[in-house]
Amino acid sequence: MTDYFRKKVHSDEIIATFDDMLIIPGYTNFDIDKIDISSKLGKYEFHVPIISSAMDTVTAEEMAIKMALLGGLGVLHRNCSLQKQLEMVRKVKRARSFVIDDVATIKVDAKLAEAKMRMEKDGISGIVVINDENKVCGIFTKRDFPYKEEIMNTGDVKDYMTKNVVSIDPGASREEALEMLFQHRIEKLPITENGHLKGLITTKDLKPEFPLASKDEEGRLLCALALSPKFPENISSLKLLKEIDHYTDIFFIDVAAFYKDVDIRGTKNLMESLESDFVLGNIGTYEAAEFLLTKCDFSEQFIGLKVGMGSGSICSTSIQTGVGAPTLYATAQVADAIADYNPKIGLIADGGFKNPGDLPKAIAVGADLIMSGHFFAGCEESPGYVDTIQGRKVKVYRGMGSKEARTSEFILDRYIEGESSKTLPEGVSDYVPFVGSVSGVLSTLKEGLRNGMIYAGANNISNMKKAKVGIISNAGQIEQRPHDLMGRY
Ligand code: XMP
Repeated sequence: MTDYFRKKVHSDEIIATFDDMLIIPGYTNFDIDKIDISSKLGKYEFHVPIISSAMDTVTAEEMAIKMALLGGLGVLHRNCSLQKQLEMVRKVKRARSFVIDDVATIKVDAKLAEAKMRMEKDGISGIVVINDENKVCGIFTKRDFPYKEEIMNTGDVKDYMTKNVVSIDPGASREEALEMLFQHRIEKLPITENGHLKGLITTKDLKPEFPLASKDEEGRLLCALALSPKFPENISSLKLLKEIDHYTDIFFIDVAAFYKDVDIRGTKNLMESLESDFVLGNIGTYEAAEFLLTKCDFSEQFIGLKVGMGSGSICSTSIQTGVGAPTLYATAQVADAIADYNPKIGLIADGGFKNPGDLPKAIAVGADLIMSGHFFAGCEESPGYVDTIQGRKVKVYRGMGSKEARTSEFILDRYIEGESSKTLPEGVSDYVPFVGSVSGVLSTLKEGLRNGMIYAGANNISNMKKAKVGIISNAGQIEQRPHDLMGRY
């Protein structure tokens, strides 16, 4: 980043954001297919440096699973009970693993109708058959159902299942399993020990169609969850939280303004009781980052800072309170503090992204990853239904500080608590266009980022952070957009 821009965003006179700056073109001396947009946060590597926001109209389990499969991350929201959060993290962690641990089984004397019902209920295409000693004695798959409907009610599983089951030992490697599946032209491979079922490997899970997936060391999807900085009030909640911890890789402490003594103390207590990593946020200034990096004595679990206050498309914090730190400004400020005190800490620029071209801008001023709700709320994987308004398909997108979201008790401590928080919303609720699958949205965003990097002459994220940037004049801002046409703009 140029000193010119640093000085500008560090002066108290200019609080710049995306539309105020441009990246200055650079020299490109690499092949376009050599661009690497992967980025790091703590020990985790992401092929796609994009995260979906922890909001109840953006990220529940379906979005979190898809974002991780596609190489990014989805942070599960916290506008629900701990019990519900536990269900969500479990689903994400179990979504796609090398080995399925809790395999569906059926007794050998079961009827076909029961097998059909179980398979439909669990959404699976096959079931392992076990005998009275709980040993594997067959496999029954969709293909084994007799085509005559009347047999369905009377037929027995044992007469239609595959009896010569090919199985594999518990310690087998991925390659050994692949080899065996191929040799026998089968799709399901039970893991057995002395005939007892220990797990299941399927072709689908071994040969993922998602080569970029964000995974943990055991090959399971990475799972991130938003959390209040408040320490649980009772033993049973703490117990639940510890169970959640078991399935979660990264907790995102999720408050509108984290630079608060009470939240810092609460988070330190949480870190002592939990084992997962932590991203803290949101903050918006060099001073806040400096304080968190140097004065708080957080454990090694602290791996990242999330920045930006008031820029979100559904935010009204700055309007309602007069205070804010737009995402670009916050990113530049915090990037400097991280560079000064602890370059190992990751930086997530959160909210306010309107166009794909905003992504390279955030990276150029120091972000490692970007987070957005706006880009993903209209996807088919976000929670909620597709509605139709004046012939257009839409979905609801609401700020977590909106009146609508704050009807639940769980999110109140994201903002300033007290009587005023009930009457002064800091977010809005509205419709956004339905945009189809998240994979299409991510492709567009990745292209914007890649193309920006090519023009800037940067072949990877750390080189992109060295790109030259500058403030653009008002006249320049107008000229950048399509202009002097028939009046559409
Ligand atoms: P975008 O621009 O992607 O921003 O819609 C999403 C980010 O905005 C934050 N957020 C809020 N901020 N009032 C706020 O001031 C709210 O009601 C609100 N809800 C979410 C959050 O950081 C999110 O990632």
